[in-house]
Amino acid sequence: MKYETIRWKNDRLEVIDQRLLPGKTRYAACFTDGDVVRAIKAMAVRGAPAIGIAAAYGVYLGVRKSRARGFRSFKKELERTMKRLAASRPTARDLFWALERVDELVKKNKGMPVGELKSMVLYEAHAILDEDRRRCRAIGREGKALIAKGSNILTHCNAGGLATGGYGTALGVIFAAGKKVRRVYVDETRPVMQGARLTVWELSKANIPATLICDNMAASLMAKNEVDAVMVGADRIAANGDVANKIGTYNLAVLAHYHKVPFYVAAPRSTFDLSVADGGAIPIEERSPLEVKKMGGEYVTLKDVDVRNPAFDITPAKLITAIITERGVIRRPDRRKIAKLVGG
Ligand code: MRU
Repeated sequence: MKYETIRWKNDRLEVIDQRLLPGKTRYAACFTDGDVVRAIKAMAVRGAPAIGIAAAYGVYLGVRKSRARGFRSFKKELERTMKRLAASRPTARDLFWALERVDELVKKNKGMPVGELKSMVLYEAHAILDEDRRRCRAIGREGKALIAKGSNILTHCNAGGLATGGYGTALGVIFAAGKKVRRVYVDETRPVMQGARLTVWELSKANIPATLICDNMAASLMAKNEVDAVMVGADRIAANGDVANKIGTYNLAVLAHYHKVPFYVAAPRSTFDLSVADGGAIPIEERSPLEVKKMGGEYVTLKDVDVRNPAFDITPAKLITAIITERGVIRRPDRRKIAKLVGG
């Protein structure tokens, strides 16, 4: 990739500020856990795996200046930091997965001096970033066989390098499929416009032909047989295969089912939450009404209009042709197949 989404540089965390793309490529520096929380909330860094990676570094930033002398007081500081980070966004499973992973590591190394525990937390964040890059490449390798030569693929939101440690899940499959992809239709993805601002930018950098469409155009393209497959990412996948992803994903799944277009979800195992029985139990973030009322900083409606702004929706497993993971493809996902591939 020609850009780094997240990097550790000069003893601080830097995230490419996704609010400024595609106009400006600028990094936002995070010196504290509070900076990381603000960057996640404001969506300077976004996308399930990228949020998880940033949060892992956030834990280190929160405890690196700790003066705790013993394990118990260090653990208390660690828990306070994790609580702040966990409250930044509720839906993406990877955020909690990364925090749990760091927590487990610290607990396992209880007997270590505090200084060493701090270093371990930083190295765990590096490992999570590194692993993400490898996992996304593996998702790409697993998924590319599903793409027929000359395909037009429709994607929603941004599940690319910007949403991960640098390669992407749904876009990772598209990058890996390379020349087999004729064209990617990109939903603009109202209200935050991740498709228009971020996915188009990434595809253009990879020299993959991209055509931007408004979110309400997919049905008519499918009716004209112009879409061969839908490929999206995921924020959380329940034990039965129901998928929480960017609002509008469910619309596409219903349309794909009606038009008999395969509907694929690409996600790493860290996005699965086997503690959640089905999609109904996944917490859905409601964001500021201003995201809907304004475009480009200007009101496009009455200032006092009532607004709903759920950031994610649930696509039932029965509408999903396959989930592509780094460990293989789960066709017609159900509880048993997911437990077999993801559990353990
Ligand atoms: O609100 P966002 O932009 O963080 O939502 C992102 C998505 O819904 C992505 O599709 C998802 O996180 C997959 S990321 C590889």
